[in-house]
Amino acid sequence: MSGFRIYVPGDAAAVAVGADDVAAVIAAAAARSRTAVDIVRNGSRGLHWLEPMVEVATAQGRIAYGPVAVADAEAVFQAIAADGGAHRLRLGDPQEIPFLKSQRRLTFARCGIVDPRSLDDYRAHDGYKGLERALAMTAAAVVEQVAQSGLRGRGGAGFPTGIKWKTVADTAAGQKYIVCNADEGDSGTFADRMIMEGDPFVLIEGMTIAGIAVGATQGYIYIRSEYPHAVAVLTAAIAAARKAGMLGKAVAGSPYAFDLEIRLGAGAYVCGEETALLDSLEGKRGMVRAKPPLPAHKGLFGRPTVINNVLSLATVPVILDQGAAFYRDFGMGRSRGTMPIQLAGNIRYPGLYETAFGITLGQLVEGIGGGTASGRPVRAVQVGGPLGAYFPPALFDVPFDYEAFAKADGLIGHGGIVVFDDTVDMARQARFAMEFCGIESCGKCTPCRVGSTRGVEVIDRIIAGRDRPANTALLEDLCNTMKFGSLCALGGFTPYPVMSALTHFPEDFGAPPRLQAAE
Ligand SMILES: Cc1cc2nc3c(=O)[nH]c(=O)nc-3n(C[C@H](O)[C@H](O)[C@H](O)COP(=O)(O)O)c2cc1C
Ligand code: SF4
Repeated sequence: MSGFRIYVPGDAAAVAVGADDVAAVIAAAAARSRTAVDIVRNGSRGLHWLEPMVEVATAQGRIAYGPVAVADAEAVFQAIAADGGAHRLRLGDPQEIPFLKSQRRLTFARCGIVDPRSLDDYRAHDGYKGLERALAMTAAAVVEQVAQSGLRGRGGAGFPTGIKWKTVADTAAGQKYIVCNADEGDSGTFADRMIMEGDPFVLIEGMTIAGIAVGATQGYIYIRSEYPHAVAVLTAAIAAARKAGMLGKAVAGSPYAFDLEIRLGAGAYVCGEETALLDSLEGKRGMVRAKPPLPAHKGLFGRPTVINNVLSLATVPVILDQGAAFYRDFGMGRSRGTMPIQLAGNIRYPGLYETAFGITLGQLVEGIGGGTASGRPVRAVQVGGPLGAYFPPALFDVPFDYEAFAKADGLIGHGGIVVFDDTVDMARQARFAMEFCGIESCGKCTPCRVGSTRGVEVIDRIIAGRDRPANTALLEDLCNTMKFGSLCALGGFTPYPVMSALTHFPEDFGAPPRLQAAE
């Protein structure tokens, strides 16, 4: 029997449910049967309920099995050795699984498919084609492509990436920087981690293109220390890119220099805020800086700096490769392209779902996600991390679009959706939002530092039934003070989860239930 190439994800989500042990059992079974195997630790495809999802490359394409428990691994290997043969966990061609088949993967095109540590595999799957195109253009034309694509920052604020790059490009300085925000602090989000673990070269390529476009020669990737697998894969990928001349003094033999370093964050939510992140990168305590000056003018070490989220940067190569018009063609309104959406919490099919903007919340939660894992009715979903609003099913027709979400008093943020069933207590969730803000506040401004603690106290009084009308009015007043008086979005957006809980679920705060148009 000739050898097999077997894929066992080394992604943290798969490792958390036993992928390392599954890989070890398969390696041992192969050794015993003297079968040559090449076990690739790929990234996850993002079908998390099927992890560990083991795949084998056959002449007919990849065949998947999952979820493979350690106890099943030996039998699954026997099926694999029968060239992708029968087993009760056999899923067939992974691309045909409806959750994957209905996606439009542009940013995640290679994730789960390639060997994340192999530059050759990256190139074999259209890697570095975007850089090749960028090198054939002027720097200004690269910035223009990104602007024309309509790409908006995927870190949360949705700021147009092209405008940010143009500001840095137009600012004269001897040294400029590209900083990648890989702090990924939002609850229910894991897309940055998946890219770094499953397709790290796409981030390296995106940052290199950014450097060339704005005239920066040095980049930093700021990763949370809770992501050791991502750090390991990225470190290997950066070394491979450097060795191949894709990073360094002459990128791909061009006159451009660009190199990268990884820096670890120590785990403060506020260090995901771009100016606090820059302080942290400079070795200081992460405190939010007042703006202006913008980081684009005076950022890292006082130099012009592009700071972008992992997904924003990882989307740049496909834009350069396929062209701005191709990317801009997807989406709705001013939300162009695709969004990697993360389905989490109490949901039947959790995972990564990349699709064009415009899909509704209901399609995502009830359709793609299959409703709750508990089988109980969905009561609320929080979109956009801990600062995002809670939506009731009555608002499930809201499309995934920055402006539509803002109109519904919510935010898309980093695209995380956390689902709750009808056992959730929304007054407790509102309390949690204030408590989280109090714990994570950098302490620089009063509405956030003091307001969050007062907020917990007021909600406690409401929960205890003490003078509810007066305390509810006080809570609304406090939320307005935080919203309009805070220096950054930590204090400024905490009112979103609190006020949405109060507005849509008043019965949990001891008030009469709200009459929903749909009911
Ligand atoms: C409290 C707070 C936490 C944030 N955390 C993150 C984060 O973990 N990752 C991220 O990319 N952006 C985060 N942001 C947004 C960044 O400040 C910034 O908008 C982003 O890095 C810009 O990149 P983009 O334009 O590509 O989105 C956070 C913002 C705030 C206010
Ligand atoms: S809102 Fe909170 S986190 Fe932001 S600057 Fe003020 S105190 Fe710091």
